[in-house]
Amino acid sequence: MSLVDPASDWIPHTDPFALFDAWFAEARASELNDPNAMALATATPAGAPSVRMVLLKGHGPDGFVFYTNFESRKGHELAANPQAALLFHWKSLRRQVRVEGRIEEVTAAEADAYFASRHPVSRLGSAASDQSRPLPDRETYLARVEALRAQYPDGDVPRPPHWSGYRVIPAAIEFWVDRDHRLHERRRFVRENANAPWSSTLLYP
Ligand SMILES: Cc1cc2nc3c(=O)[nH]c(=O)nc-3n(C[C@H](O)[C@H](O)[C@H](O)COP(=O)(O)O)c2cc1C
Repeated sequence: MSLVDPASDWIPHTDPFALFDAWFAEARASELNDPNAMALATATPAGAPSVRMVLLKGHGPDGFVFYTNFESRKGHELAANPQAALLFHWKSLRRQVRVEGRIEEVTAAEADAYFASRHPVSRLGSAASDQSRPLPDRETYLARVEALRAQYPDGDVPRPPHWSGYRVIPAAIEFWVDRDHRLHERRRFVRENANAPWSSTLLYP
């Protein structure tokens, strides 16, 4: 008896960045919103994990880039333990991608360019936010945004030095695809370092 859909591997052993590009392009075409949303896991040096969503704002052979406040909880955790894991789940495609690796800060020029591309109110909002620290009430935050808007009516507030980006430089990238009757498929790519070639293996689902 043959199983339903016995066709062999759907996840080729290829360059994982090229495979990510292909899957991400499909996600952009199919997801209802935020195909670039990804869960970001960090951990304290003692190993206590935390996770939250962020948006992928750049990717390529150098790694996966997101922007945030370096004084946030994630910022403190990454400063103390510069390792991260990312997770994409594209529901409409029934696919998952996991990325693991060390992080580095993007350059000031990269951060400036991305910050300048943001909506003026978003720029004011991130400059006004003490991300992850207690806020007495929402009015306090909005008043800080308004105060900055009075100072910078065009929204051209300078990028705060603590608002920047991280690049996750993957040591591992794993692709998962839904197959019939939960006989799913996984392929994990690993490399020794950022200049080494990738190798890959299937994993039991
Ligand atoms: C879909 C989605 C996208 C988000 N994107 C970002 C982002 O790119 N950068 C960011 O700092 N926070 C983003 N957030 C908010 C974070 O999930 C989180 O609340 C915030 O960064 C504080 O996290 P922390 O206290 O762990 O540092 C996003 C939230 C959602 C739901």
